[in-house]
Amino acid sequence: MTETVLKHRVGPLGAVPRGEGRVFEVGGQRLAVFRTHADQVFATQERCPHLGGPLADGLIDGGTVICPLHDRTYDLRSGDGVNTECRVQTYPASVDAEGAIVVEVGQD
Ligand code: FES
Repeated sequence: MTETVLKHRVGPLGAVPRGEGRVFEVGGQRLAVFRTHADQVFATQERCPHLGGPLADGLIDGGTVICPLHDRTYDLRSGDGVNTECRVQTYPASVDAEGAIVVEVGQD
């Protein structure tokens, strides 16, 4: 089966405060979208793979997010765990010319 990647405009950049994350429904799934203090945006699965913590409520520091429940840390670009064997699914995210956050999600 071929996977099609769709670009979704999830909202204006201002919908996510700098240094925080928010949850959005994107292509039928809930994703955590993060905005760094440098206005870079990242998207991951909503829940921590450890025990389901809300990643959007985690602390972000540059290119990582720290899960608020047990401090497992994930690289927002690769999804790799920094201090854990767990990893998160990541999705390409960007800001378009109109200032909207765009997240790319594959669909079968
Ligand atoms: S649920 Fe995220 S570190 Fe445990």
